Amino acid sequence: MENLERKWWKEAVVYQIYPRSFMDSDGDGIGDLNGILSKLDYLKELGVDVVWLSPVYQSPNDDNGYDISDYQAIMQEFGTMEDFDRMLKGMHERGIRLVMDLVVNHTSDEHPWFIESRSSKDNPYRDYYFWREGKNGKEPNNWGSCFSGSAWEYDKTTDMYYLHLFSKKQPDLNWDNPAVRRDIFSMMNWWCEKGIDGFRMDVISMISKEPGLPDGKLYPGASYAFSGCVNGPHVHEYLQEMNREVLSRYDLMTVGECSGVTIEEAKKYARADGKELNMVFQFEHMGLDDGKYGKWTDRRTDLQSFRQVMSKWQTELEGLAWNSLFLGNHDQPRSVSRFGNDAPAFREACAKMLATCLHMMQGTPYVYQGEELGMTNCPFDSLDEIRDIESINAFHELTSSGAVSPEDMMRFIGLRGRDNARTPMQWDDSKNAGFTSGTPWIKVNPNYKEINAAAERKDPDSVFCYYQKLIALRKREAVMVYGSYELQEPDSESLYVYTRTLEPDRLLVICSFSETETDYEIPAEFSGAEILIGNGKRTSAAGLIRLQPYEALVLKRKMN
Ligand code: GLC
Repeated sequence: MENLERKWWKEAVVYQIYPRSFMDSDGDGIGDLNGILSKLDYLKELGVDVVWLSPVYQSPNDDNGYDISDYQAIMQEFGTMEDFDRMLKGMHERGIRLVMDLVVNHTSDEHPWFIESRSSKDNPYRDYYFWREGKNGKEPNNWGSCFSGSAWEYDKTTDMYYLHLFSKKQPDLNWDNPAVRRDIFSMMNWWCEKGIDGFRMDVISMISKEPGLPDGKLYPGASYAFSGCVNGPHVHEYLQEMNREVLSRYDLMTVGECSGVTIEEAKKYARADGKELNMVFQFEHMGLDDGKYGKWTDRRTDLQSFRQVMSKWQTELEGLAWNSLFLGNHDQPRSVSRFGNDAPAFREACAKMLATCLHMMQGTPYVYQGEELGMTNCPFDSLDEIRDIESINAFHELTSSGAVSPEDMMRFIGLRGRDNARTPMQWDDSKNAGFTSGTPWIKVNPNYKEINAAAERKDPDSVFCYYQKLIALRKREAVMVYGSYELQEPDSESLYVYTRTLEPDRLLVICSFSETETDYEIPAEFSGAEILIGNGKRTSAAGLIRLQPYEALVLKRKMN
């Protein structure tokens, strides 16, 4: 089958670095490239093959680097281009590849293209962005920004509005303009010539807008509508062009961040014939705990829906497109707090169980910095401690309209806010978790004395050592990468069980999502089979077994 074609990026484990919070080398409280360089041996020890680096380009940091003012320069706080080159060399010397974040749905409003564009109606860069006249003294349409409020900002220089699907400092680029595409492709080629190994493409499913920018459906009580700008009419055409002009010329790994992607669309973005991208991030499992106000809720994902959604993506892409596997990133709360249980009695077992459940699936697994330590959500005490523009804007919007009380909103931010993932990496139990000698730009999670890399590297039973084993296993067991997935026990209330098969090997993956013990009958074919990995003390598994809270167990047998 097509998807069984062996590729390095299918066999790889990717580690995401959020540079601002990874390691600070110069004491300014902000992580930097030399900080990353100093921790490459740590990544090597963990065993990851690829680093996805969140944006390090020049940026006024309205959205922590996702608002870029120069694609070919390094953000001052992070270092210089020479530091970048050294870091890249250091990665390559250790056999680690580097995937850069490509943020090209929008630029910063401080990017020279936008400065030109806003200066006059007949400027050659005018059509690099979306400029529209107001309608009856109001915005050109009813679209809302993903960061609250209208998606349009009035600009008095030319008495017109510009479109920004994110913050007003992130104007959307007009991909329908061939000059925009040409400039982006040439910038991408420049990075490829430097020797980088791929791109993670920020909100790439949003680059093609519906012609005429029509109003969206307005729900009762809402001030603005969803723009509907996902999987637009020309997105596949533009990505195929990008593939021809850039991607196909190098040996790259590409992953598109595709919010709103359906299975049908994913099959096009990540088509096995390689004409667009290698894989996409889909977000269906990330929306299962959403409520009336989107992510601002205390709902939790239930096992049934999680299992159903994950299984759907596993089986329906098989042979047609490749999955990306993730439970956390810099936009999501900590996976162990969200999908599991971060109470001290369960945290370690649970972090290992979630890792097993994910890494044993078909697709390329992503580890978000600190996830390999079982880092948890952070107890934020007040809005002053929050740095994220999305949370801050949502707090003001939902509390000022009276929709949500300030207390509830702080609680929701504590559960779902992006800053949970952005607190400094916990390196050791010294001041500021060893992240900086200065004042960290964001609160350090107070649990760093117990949860940190130095302690876990020494402890063979730690979450870190478990990740190390999982990652090493992937190098040995082709069935983990290429085996086909089949859900078992679809109705279990507490277990997620599935098999993977790549002849002659067959795996049985058993994950308990329960905080109590659960009995389970090992299927006859796996009775007494080899234990490949598990988070318990078990040395054999046959017949009826009693699973511990959050136990994970993987059995392997030969089919002949
Ligand atoms: C993506 C990024 C997120 C950013 C947004 C706008 O979703 O992951 O961090 O805020 O795009 O660039």
